[in-house]
Order: sequence, then C-alpha cells, then structure tokens
Amino acid sequence: MVSSPTAPIPGPAPVPAPTGGLPAAAATDEPPIRVDNLTMAFGSFVLQKNLSFSVNRGDIFVIMGGSGCGKSTLLRHLIGLKSPAEGKVYFSGESLWDAELTRQRQILQGTGVLFQRGALWSSMTLAQNVALPLQEYTKLSVSTIREVATLKLALVGLAGFEDYYPSEISGGMQKRAGLARAMALDPQILFFDEPSAGLDPISSKLLDDLILELRDSLGATIVIVTHELASIFAIGNNSVFLDAESRTMIASGDPKQLLATTTNPTVRQFLTRGGRGTPPEA
Ligand SMILES: Nc1ncnc2c1ncn2[C@@H]1O[C@H](COP(=O)(O)OP(=O)(O)OP(=O)(O)O)[C@@H](O)[C@H]1O
Ligand SMILES: [Mg+2]
Repeated sequence: MVSSPTAPIPGPAPVPAPTGGLPAAAATDEPPIRVDNLTMAFGSFVLQKNLSFSVNRGDIFVIMGGSGCGKSTLLRHLIGLKSPAEGKVYFSGESLWDAELTRQRQILQGTGVLFQRGALWSSMTLAQNVALPLQEYTKLSVSTIREVATLKLALVGLAGFEDYYPSEISGGMQKRAGLARAMALDPQILFFDEPSAGLDPISSKLLDDLILELRDSLGATIVIVTHELASIFAIGNNSVFLDAESRTMIASGDPKQLLATTTNPTVRQFLTRGGRGTPPEA
C-alpha cells in the first residue's frame, strides 16, 4: 500500500449535506453520461478519436481494451481531470467541459471515483479515510461524519473495522474501503478503474457481487475499467471497446451479446481469453 492517494477525490464544492446527485438537469431523459465524438490527445499525439457512446441509468458500463489503449485516460475525461482535444462529454445533457469551473464541480459532486492506483492514506484509519471527502466537502459535524463513515464501511462489509489501519487489513478489504470512500458523498455515478487488479479470484468475485449490490441498492450508475473477463460478463451490461491500433472504439454494447455476435478479431480475441485470469499488466 502506498502512503498517499495519487489524486484527491475530484472536486465537489462545499455542500450542506452529503446528498450527492446531479443538480437541475438530472430530471431530463438524457442519459447520465453521453460521450460525443471525443478525441483524446496529449499534445499532437492522438490517443483515441471519434468516441461516441452513452452510459444509461443503472448501467454497469465497462471500458474495455488492451493495455495502454487509453481506458484510464477516458475515465479522466469523464471525471473532469483531462479536457477533450475534440468532442463533448455530457452529464444528463449538460456539457461538462463547456461549464464554468464552479458548475463543473457541482456536476461532479454526483460522482465518486476509485482510481487505478488510488490508495488509502496509510497513516489514517479506515473511518478517517472515508471521512476525508466528508470533511472536505460538507459542513457535517464530527460525530455525523463518523456515523456516515461507519455506515459506508458497513455497506462494503467492513463493519467493526473503522479503527483499523490499511496495513492491518487484506488487499480485498482495502479495495472495499476505497469503494466506501468513493461512496462517501452518496454519488449517483461511480467510476472504478481496475478495482480487482491484484486480487485473488475469490476476493475479485466478492468485489463483483458488491458492485452489483451497490448498483441495485443505491440505484447507482457504474462505469468500470476492467480486464477481468469473469467480471465483464458477470456484471457488465454495456460497454465500449477501445482499440489501440486503430485508435478508436471498435465495439460497444452488452459484452455477452458482443461475444455472441462480434466478427471483429481483436474484440473476439479479447473476449475469449477464458477464465478469471490475471490482467495482462497487473
Ligand atoms: N500524462 C500523459 N502524458 C503523455 N502521454 C500519456 C499521459 N498519460 C497517458 N499517456 C499515454 O496514453 C496511453 C494510454 O494510457 P492509459 O493509462 O489511459 O491506458 P490504459 O488503457 O488505462 O492502460 P492500462 O490498461 O495499462 O491501465 C499511455 O500508453 C501513454 O502513452
Ligand atoms: Mg489504466
């Protein structure tokens, strides 16, 4: 476990209570997230282009593709950390990157993130880790924050572990504590980057079950980057496949249907590696 997270939970503005949710535009028929003709680039290097897809309410939406194709970068475009070279990212019909900074933060207030290399603060207990976004972005009292943190930890099966330090629990439990922290502000949309990387198959399966449960009990929409075929087929109902070679998306939709119908050799190869294996780069 590293000693500090790679980035803070992205920036909701101070709010009176951790109710989360997308303001105003959430009542429209627009999907929670729509990506329109997105090009992602670093300077003149175009990583991916012409990405267009929708994430629907209640989806467990999987971002798939080989190592280095741009999955984490796509996530960064969705959570306000990297701006598009071209194209739009809409949250309930509102363009994230055309919004003023304060509005952008309001929109992102309804999201929670578990980063690929995101870690818990090793010098803080689990409850303190989960409390951090609440302290930062709400005016809740110390005792209420403790209660919310305890509740979130219970939601991910960590009741009784509030005062443990990350080094005192297993990798699977650390991931679940990271999930609890991502859920601290009651987000409607959760983003997970390779949540089961480095976990054994049983912990990985438990994490899948938890993600399904969260979607069902909280009505959350979940966007997840994963290489794990078992996870993709067990929990994903929608997806996009990024191809490193052509630098664009070459498939989208329900992964199970893709497996049954795709004629694209790259997609077929990815989806037929078989077994709950170790991610190629993990
Ligand atoms: N800050 C950056 N500056 C320049 N290039 C970058 C930067 N971040 C990422 N890249 C480039 O974008 C590519 C895609 O990175 P990204 O992390 O999005 O891939 P990924 O699909 O998430 O890979 P993995 O499966 O290994 O997690 C990298 O190979 C790298 O070449
Ligand atoms: Mg990545």
